[in-house]
Amino acid sequence: MDYREYIVNKLNLENITAADVALPPNSQMGDYALPCFKLAKAFRKSPVAIAEELKNSFVCDEVISEVSAVNGYLNFKINKMGLVSSVLNRVLSEGDCYGSSDVGKGKTVCVEYSSVNVAKPFHIGHLSTTVIGGALYKIYKFLGYNVVGINHLGDYGTQFGKLISAYKRWGNREEVDKGGIHAINELYVRFNKEADELMEQEARNYFRLIESGDREANELFEWFKELTIDYVNTIYEKLNITFDSYAGERFYIDKMQPVIDELKEKGLLKESEGAQIVDLEPYGMPPCLVLRSDGASLYATRDLAAAIYRKNTYNFYKCLYVVAYQQNLHFKQFFKVLELMGKDWAKDLVHVAYGMVSLEDGAMSTRNGRVVWLEDVINKCVEKAYAVIDEKNSALENKRQIAETVGLGAVIFGALYNNKIKDVTFSYDKVLSFDGETSVYVQYTCARANSVLEKSGKSFALPEKYEPNAQEYEVIKQLSTFPQTIKDAAEKYEPSLIARYAVDLAQKYNKFYIDCKILSAEGETKHFRLSLTEAVHVTLKNALSLLGIGAPEKM
Ligand code: ARG
Repeated sequence: MDYREYIVNKLNLENITAADVALPPNSQMGDYALPCFKLAKAFRKSPVAIAEELKNSFVCDEVISEVSAVNGYLNFKINKMGLVSSVLNRVLSEGDCYGSSDVGKGKTVCVEYSSVNVAKPFHIGHLSTTVIGGALYKIYKFLGYNVVGINHLGDYGTQFGKLISAYKRWGNREEVDKGGIHAINELYVRFNKEADELMEQEARNYFRLIESGDREANELFEWFKELTIDYVNTIYEKLNITFDSYAGERFYIDKMQPVIDELKEKGLLKESEGAQIVDLEPYGMPPCLVLRSDGASLYATRDLAAAIYRKNTYNFYKCLYVVAYQQNLHFKQFFKVLELMGKDWAKDLVHVAYGMVSLEDGAMSTRNGRVVWLEDVINKCVEKAYAVIDEKNSALENKRQIAETVGLGAVIFGALYNNKIKDVTFSYDKVLSFDGETSVYVQYTCARANSVLEKSGKSFALPEKYEPNAQEYEVIKQLSTFPQTIKDAAEKYEPSLIARYAVDLAQKYNKFYIDCKILSAEGETKHFRLSLTEAVHVTLKNALSLLGIGAPEKM
């Protein structure tokens, strides 16, 4: 049973959903609380008066044993024994499905994320989109949605002309085969350093050749693209990321004309200095450029075609774009254009914006040419994880493998833990701390719970009735909110809620672990505490796995 939903159903108030029901800071006050501020407008009363009124009309039952009104909050106490057995029974019987649901049944969500650029570095700037999108993908699946993961590859633009020109000048097949993406990136960087007007002209010509279907130019282009995809796939594999489609910008080239025709037909296209634009001034935005004066398409044109294609192909319920907030305006603009075209589904497009990740030493600034490859960050984190683990427990078996899981988890969690719109500074020491708010801490707690279970011989059964002590009860309550936390994370496009949930649960379990005997407890108490430990173990694993993070059984 989900208590927040239960409370909301019972209250039956407009505009109040389970997400509005919070955990009070002090559990003496109650197990759940509804802040009544949000209701002030509808009730035309002060929150204090609303809480009082709701309290008076509330009828307690076998689930909710007590209500109180304090400072504009309506507090609820749950019948402990009922909660304990229902939560633990559910977690233990559902196991690795605990928290899943079928609310999304029959609905398709497109999640566009990562969207790296062909022949350019997969750098730390792509970390957030990759792991936030990857988590949203898993979260929606867990909730029963049909999910389409899309990598909107940046595979269109004059840079490919430059690349071909550079390759023809300085490159050769052997070197590129050997050096892969790094080799082509070097060629590209060298072109940008050395190009004069003549070379620029040559690059534009090559780009035109790709466009006009020239065989050699296209073969080269496809080869560079393949190298890029092969390379990024090795990183996606490490991060537990998958895609269902790699339809990039180029894929939409032959799908733009109908969009342009439709814009014309609907009287939305305007000429401005030779270019074709959609005027967005009435909406307080600069115009959306659709065709350049030379007839070339733009980034927005391809996004218009892509959105329409996705709607026609997947008939999505929602289409998410996990892209940095720097592109806020771009998304607002082309969403608006679609709305003006009369696409009522434009309201289902969501720009899931996130903040920047930079490294402690400021190495992210691209201006001084120091791009940080994500691969290097991952490798460094895994190396450091190895050192940390070795120091803590040098006798551990499979240290390398564990360090890989821990290091990768730290990279993912480091980019996920904060509210996504915040800029974050990535610090190796911080993300690898055993006692911070980290994946390492969660993984360690998971391994600790596993070790208790192994020592117990796993022969225990949940007692039918059990009166929990304070520490046990805190853990149970936290366990009970997992399903709703997942739904909240999906609704707010905020995987950090799950990351925080995992840290909270780990902290509560560790408090219980330190204060209460488990293996040396007696009778029902021992059975109960082992059941609780198993429930925590499985829930922590589920939470981590929704973020794409593994849980080593030993650490
Ligand atoms: N490839 C782009 C970049 O690296 C991001 C693409 C965002 N997605 C979109 N549909 N415009 O900046």
